[in-house]
Amino acid sequence: MKAIVRTKYGSADVLKLKDIEKPTPKENEVLVKIYAAAVNPLDKYFMRGTPFFIRFVAGLVTPKYKTPGADIAGQVEAVGENVTQFQPGDEVYGDIHNSGFAEYARVPEKLLVLKPANVSFEEAAAIPVAGLTAVQILRDQMQIKPGQKILINGASGGVGTYAVQIAKHYGADVTGVCSTGNVDMVRSIGADQVTDYTKEDFTQSGEFYDLILDNVGNRSVSELKRILAPNGMYLLNAFSPALMLQLGLQSGKSKNGGQVMRNSDVAKAIQSDLEFLKELFEAGTIKSVIDKVYPLSETPEAVRHLESGRARGKIIIAI
Ligand SMILES: NC(=O)c1ccc[n+]([C@@H]2O[C@H](COP(=O)([O-])OP(=O)(O)OC[C@H]3O[C@@H](n4cnc5c(N)ncnc54)[C@H](OP(=O)(O)O)[C@@H]3O)[C@@H](O)[C@H]2O)c1
Repeated sequence: MKAIVRTKYGSADVLKLKDIEKPTPKENEVLVKIYAAAVNPLDKYFMRGTPFFIRFVAGLVTPKYKTPGADIAGQVEAVGENVTQFQPGDEVYGDIHNSGFAEYARVPEKLLVLKPANVSFEEAAAIPVAGLTAVQILRDQMQIKPGQKILINGASGGVGTYAVQIAKHYGADVTGVCSTGNVDMVRSIGADQVTDYTKEDFTQSGEFYDLILDNVGNRSVSELKRILAPNGMYLLNAFSPALMLQLGLQSGKSKNGGQVMRNSDVAKAIQSDLEFLKELFEAGTIKSVIDKVYPLSETPEAVRHLESGRARGKIIIAI
């Protein structure tokens, strides 16, 4: 079968399309014929082996995991003898951590759920990492409530487009921050207000927010604290060494009860959360915003597009 393989760290040039052996599922695994996969920032970190600490998981000198790609959607082709939840023919999606940029993957059944019935494989593959991140931050870490004012910096990216819609689902008043070309899109997915950062500085607007979800990390803690309402919460969901250092020094509650912190978790591949997202899709509450679809052979180009920092929603690999 065809798969993207990398044997060393580096730029997207290390991603090679190769013929490798088709996997055979173990007793608790299913064999999925993959129809679509999505690209995530974690793919670039694992590809480059930077930030360096990632190598303690990914392999110190060369990548431990040779076949990248976490988000997939496809069809079950075969099941191991102890699999109880799926049968051949089922359409599934999930965050499988590795081996998603390929024609087939063997996947522990606990990482998959049935695909939302009303969306394409491309739209379903877009969901797992970014959708789980948005749900687990908004619902679990921020405990978002109806009527709260939330500002989402980086509202037009993979996490941001789901976060805007999920925050609306929870009844929040949403302000999205993006560049001019994405203003209409962010408004169309439900943002009540959109700030074009090329024209306005959201830290100078005079508005206060109960919650700030920051998918960019380009402002200082003091600027962010200035716009945090009493008892509000700022959460950094981006790799920004300078801001992470500031947050490390200033974590804990401030005088007005406000809290600044960084995302304490990577997205957890929890079946019940994927089921929750499936229900939101089937109810028409949320949708995937797809930037561009690339064939498997152009995976390096897809990752370069993500690395440009300009992804508009999700970048998809069609297989
Ligand atoms: N903890 C986890 O498990 C987890 C999971 C997923 C992602 N993340 C992290 O979350 C962050 C966002 O991920 P993502 O998948 O959403 O990334 P992404 O899709 O690559 O984000 C691209 C978006 O960032 C926006 N952007 C760039 N510069 C901006 C600025 N100065 N102000 C506002 N928006 C700006 C762009 O909008 P414009 O083109 O309009 O500027 C673009 O739409 C990353 O740092 C990633 O590492 C963490």
